[in-house]
Amino acid sequence: MVSGGMSCVKYMLFAFNLLFAISGIAILTVGAIIHMVYSHYSNFVYTSYQSAPIVLIIVGVVIFIVAFFGCCGAVKENHCMVVTFSVLLLAILILELVAGIMGYVKRNEVEVMLESKLNSTMYSYYTNPEIENTWDIAQHEAECCGMNGPTDWQKITRNDSLPHTCCPNTQDDGSCTLKTPNVYTASCFEKLKAVFNKYGAIIGGVGIGVAISQLVGVIFACCLARSIRREYETV
Ligand SMILES: *[C@@H]1O[C@H](CO)[C@@H](O)[C@H](O)[C@H]1NC(C)=O
Ligand SMILES: *[C@@H]1O[C@H](CO)[C@@H](O)[C@H](O)[C@H]1NC(C)=O
Repeated sequence: MVSGGMSCVKYMLFAFNLLFAISGIAILTVGAIIHMVYSHYSNFVYTSYQSAPIVLIIVGVVIFIVAFFGCCGAVKENHCMVVTFSVLLLAILILELVAGIMGYVKRNEVEVMLESKLNSTMYSYYTNPEIENTWDIAQHEAECCGMNGPTDWQKITRNDSLPHTCCPNTQDDGSCTLKTPNVYTASCFEKLKAVFNKYGAIIGGVGIGVAISQLVGVIFACCLARSIRREYETV
């Protein structure tokens, strides 16, 4: 049995891993939410970005499994398990750092992507039902109209009519026009940029929290591994 101060480390490592398992579930949930948002706006997102939430979901599952290793290792005082746990934790930490730096470097790309995607898809609104659907969802949910405002649609329709989702609770009967009094005037680009940035900030925040807790976990685990080995050597 590991005794004294190290028994305390053992329980702390166990408690920490419980927290860690919960953070794995948190990451998984964030990934699932972002996946939902992305599939909502799939026509506005580069295909290469659509794997990002899937990666989050996988990382969440892996963290959960690693936490399980850590818990078992701590409870059983199994040196091999604790060492495996430390190595896996360190590997995840390094991956997270790389992903975090890449995300930070590329954070402005989202804006460029939205700008080009919104611009190009507007021209297909009346011909492509899928794009029509994405735009309708965006305009309805973000209460916006057109990329920069309702007049953008004039460039496409060459008349005053607007997609029905530019007006609140309006049927698709051509009754929504630039002259409708309560037409949404907000820019979809600005509104969607805010939505995407919000999720970026959530990922960043969760990532920093998880990274710090992992660093603490690695330190705990190394202490425990050393003390377990010392016990074996002295017994
Ligand atoms: C899309 O971009 C082009 C080139 O910058 C611009 O001329 C056009 O007005 C834009 N379309 C919309 C709908 O904003
Ligand atoms: C305006 O243009 C759109 C797209 O070309 C068309 O579907 C719509 O019927 C037009 N509306 C009017 C009032 O002419």
